[in-house]
Amino acid sequence: MTAPERWDAARVRQLFRDTLPGRNLVVVSNREPYQHVWGDSEVRVDRPAGGLTAALDPVLQGIGGTWVAWGSGDADRAVSANGIVWVPPENPGYRLKRVWLSPREVRGYYEGYSNRVLWPLCHLLIERVDLSEAWWKHYAQVNRRFAVETAGVARPGDVVWVHDYQLALVPLFLRSRCPQVLICSFWHIPWPPHAAFRFCPQASQIIKGLLGCDLIGFQTPEYAVSFLECVEKELGDACQVSYDGGGPDPDSGWAAGQVRWQHGTVAVGAFPISIDYDAFAAMALSRDALAAARRILRRLGLAAGAAGVRLRKGNTLQPLALGIAVDRLDYTKGILERLAALDRFFSDNPHYREKVAVVQVVAPSRTGIPDYRRLRQQVSSMMDELNQRHRTEIWQPVYSIDHKLGPVTLAGLYRLADFAIVSSVYDGMNLVAKEFVAARSDGDGVLLLSKTAGAAAELEQAIPINPLDPAGFAAAIRTALEMPAEERRRRMAALRAYVSEHNIYHWVASFLRALGSLPAASSLPVASSPAGADVTQPAVPRPVRHTRAGVNR
Ligand code: G6P
Repeated sequence: MTAPERWDAARVRQLFRDTLPGRNLVVVSNREPYQHVWGDSEVRVDRPAGGLTAALDPVLQGIGGTWVAWGSGDADRAVSANGIVWVPPENPGYRLKRVWLSPREVRGYYEGYSNRVLWPLCHLLIERVDLSEAWWKHYAQVNRRFAVETAGVARPGDVVWVHDYQLALVPLFLRSRCPQVLICSFWHIPWPPHAAFRFCPQASQIIKGLLGCDLIGFQTPEYAVSFLECVEKELGDACQVSYDGGGPDPDSGWAAGQVRWQHGTVAVGAFPISIDYDAFAAMALSRDALAAARRILRRLGLAAGAAGVRLRKGNTLQPLALGIAVDRLDYTKGILERLAALDRFFSDNPHYREKVAVVQVVAPSRTGIPDYRRLRQQVSSMMDELNQRHRTEIWQPVYSIDHKLGPVTLAGLYRLADFAIVSSVYDGMNLVAKEFVAARSDGDGVLLLSKTAGAAAELEQAIPINPLDPAGFAAAIRTALEMPAEERRRRMAALRAYVSEHNIYHWVASFLRALGSLPAASSLPVASSPAGADVTQPAVPRPVRHTRAGVNR
């Protein structure tokens, strides 16, 4: 039997043309993939932290189309009067249409309802849900604006793919404006059981918003089934829910079921998201990646040469097993829980002092929200305490990098590490786990992975951890360190084989196949007129420099 052909950008582009001929792809998300921000006197382009944009950017580059997103960079308006820019800047492949939000809307829609109601609710952190303010009206208003802006760029027959919890109402608003488009949504974070979801005062509106779709995707079968249960419980007899989706399908994800509702039938399934495996693996193999990672480690006081990471002790260098942890600074990522487990580990295993250390990279996130600012202080003081308790003259348990690192540096760090720790308290997927695997072309390295991260449903060869159980977590760290090389390699080989096949293109292919198989995909007419004039890509992309004084071409 021959191995299945792997998915790549070219195959996905062809699949889109074959399955959805004549249609364009319009992606809609809150976060934009490229942000223009002011440097000292010039504009530079920044790539926000977060799995959603990192995963979708190669997809758009492969298929082409339009991405509609909040223009959140402080120089976004300066670079384009109509809010449209071609990206990636160095090799334009698709257009980004920015939606402008006022500071008040950002507070109500983004910081408020999205991140202080829906985010903690979906991550089962009920005590953090803040229902004290009237944020809902901003959420609904901004969702309506996104739908209007999207309607402005989508032609009849196009595929509009809405992403994540910030935009749950867009499908319904869009359907009433553009009944002739195919609408789908992917929910990147967990979908909670009804026992938690019912705390949301707008539970049924959120569900009705999503039911404007033809297809809704979740990260795991568990979340997809939870969604169907919530639909049934919130809408009762007004809809018909069936759980006979057919289960796993190698070509089109995991079909969970269907909802029959006002405009017709909405299909619901699970499609675990992934990474651009080949691109990430190649990056990790590059000299630049190793050089950047070594530079960072040197700055932390650690030596990293051909023989691995070393600790300087007088005139000698002694081997150090290096752990790596990379997170947005978010309370769902289990950073405090990881520090507690490391504390426990070094207390239980004092002989591992000066033998093991963890580099913890945290990218600041959602800094306008009090819980996130508080977390920053908690992480910093807990890390200080942990380091104080166990440190020696030449070593400390945790070395912290408190800013975002680029993918090349991260890839190099993954490659130099002996183990990676992903300890989310709850997580839709977690792509750091998959990036670590892709970076290990040496076939070595151990992944410790929270049982409650979506990735755990797929990455069975990782060492499972319960982030809330410090003793068990500490024991798992020891297991990772003492695992025989043969077992490490066997596990890593299985992980790499899985992620290599189930890459980001496999994800988009299974979603598009599921979409293409829906009756609406063949019944909806395709626009015969070409898209608007501004859809045309400039023949030769021109480099653009922007200064505070104006735009220099
Ligand atoms: C998670 C969410 C994304 C979000 C990302 C970064 O991955 O699912 O929707 O973009 O976090 O968060 P931010 O609030 O900065 O966009």
